[in-house]
Amino acid sequence: MAAHQDAFSGLTPPDPPLADGDLLLRPPLPQDIPWIVRGCQDPEVPRWTTVPSPYTEAHAREFVEESPVDWAQGTEARFAILLDGAGAGMIGIHRLLGDGVPEVGYWVGPWARRRGAASRATRLVVGWAFGQLGLPRLDLLTMPGNTGSEGVAAAAGFTRGPVEASGCDQRGTRVDVHRWTLSREDWARS
Ligand SMILES: CC(C)(COP(=O)(O)OP(=O)(O)OC[C@H]1O[C@@H](n2cnc3c(N)ncnc32)[C@H](O)[C@@H]1OP(=O)(O)O)[C@@H](O)C(=O)NCCC(=O)NCCS
Repeated sequence: MAAHQDAFSGLTPPDPPLADGDLLLRPPLPQDIPWIVRGCQDPEVPRWTTVPSPYTEAHAREFVEESPVDWAQGTEARFAILLDGAGAGMIGIHRLLGDGVPEVGYWVGPWARRRGAASRATRLVVGWAFGQLGLPRLDLLTMPGNTGSEGVAAAAGFTRGPVEASGCDQRGTRVDVHRWTLSREDWARS
């Protein structure tokens, strides 16, 4: 695939923000730091994602402060997931620049799970990435056994591929992953 550099250098967060009922997505802000730290204390978040562990307030501050830089450079689109105006989790599209396929990643805090936050947020960012950015394909990586995330990926229309041995770096260790894929054509047909 050709580099996305020209097409995506300098991203602007959607305005009006992406929303679905009581769920809204906007770039992370300093006021989100306390609930980001709280969410990342749940062992399920570091278990299945690449967030630092143990996760500190400094990690959250760095994450929030990097977000506008990533948006401005077009490297990564980070969104806070809000439910009824309260922080629920994070979703992002990584690897927007370069030759690889951009990847969707997310977590939802234990207090906000099973309300459709992750699946609705994923559908929103997928629609934005295909509709507004014109990306041809998105990937999503899950570690074997992460049934929760598999449910989210399937609900958003992704198709699961075979296990890629050592397919992902998790805090310095290579781990196995399933690569889920969704093309713009398949998304448009669904
Ligand atoms: C996985 C995770 C993001 C799901 O968030 P969520 O907002 O609760 O997910 P949704 O409510 O949108 O769930 C959508 C569907 O996925 C499936 N699902 C979600 N969580 C599940 C779980 N714990 N067990 C089994 N299925 C689950 C269900 O089919 C669910 O639909 P239903 O509630 O109507 O049955 C959340 O549990 C989480 O953050 N986990 C830890 C971090 C993580 O795994 N991130 C993803 C890395 S790839």
